[in-house]
Amino acid sequence: MRRDRWWVEPAATAVGLVLFFGYLTYRAFDATYVWSDPYISPTVAPPVFTPAAGYPGAVPVDRAWFGAFPAWWPGFLPQSPAFFLPWMAIAFRFTCYYYRGAYYKAMFLTPPNCAVRGVQRDYRGERSLLLFQNLHRYTLYGAILLLVFLWWEGFAAFFRQGQFGVGVGTVVMLVNAALLTGYTFGCHSWRHLIGGRKDCFTCDGRVSARYHLWRNATWLNVRHKGFAWISLVWVAFTDLYIYLVSRGVIRDLNTW
Ligand code: FES
Repeated sequence: MRRDRWWVEPAATAVGLVLFFGYLTYRAFDATYVWSDPYISPTVAPPVFTPAAGYPGAVPVDRAWFGAFPAWWPGFLPQSPAFFLPWMAIAFRFTCYYYRGAYYKAMFLTPPNCAVRGVQRDYRGERSLLLFQNLHRYTLYGAILLLVFLWWEGFAAFFRQGQFGVGVGTVVMLVNAALLTGYTFGCHSWRHLIGGRKDCFTCDGRVSARYHLWRNATWLNVRHKGFAWISLVWVAFTDLYIYLVSRGVIRDLNTW
């Protein structure tokens, strides 16, 4: 009986997910123009290996943890550093409680929105095929590890060839790390881990530090959807900015 435009939100969600997940997946496989000293795209950070040749704008060999891709790397796979640690960000997002709700509505149409009759089918929730989504709580550890590297790369972007300075790219990378921090620590699994699983915060007669942590996580958790979208868009923007600077299409304003 709903007469409002209930379909706008799931449709916009579907378009947004296809656009941004599609772009980032393409860039993760592409791995060209992901570096412009001292900036590195979040699609390939941290660089465990890097291609030695054939990939313009790739991370320099001396900047990768273990240098060039090894000889045993399968020839049919592109030489992209995204295959090592950055994929954990995709696993984290794909299994995120918010995104699950959003893309189930957009893709399965059962139900497509609140109080809207969905496509009739034998929907078994996350009990069978989708059981793997419960791995989300473990992908959280990978996401926190990645955050450490993204902050590290953000601060490393204050130094070009050992000289201190700052550029628009530095700011873009740090904002990226900050937004991803807001997204990660608003995660339902994190909120559960640090306090949600407790029955009582004041049982020993005083308010525990855990309670304050849980309150902060709750503040972010309430805004999780917002952080999910803005951080997703900003990751893509950060990559695009570094791509354009690396290709020489735009100039990075900086103090170097
Ligand atoms: Fe969204 Fe964990 S619930 S990241």
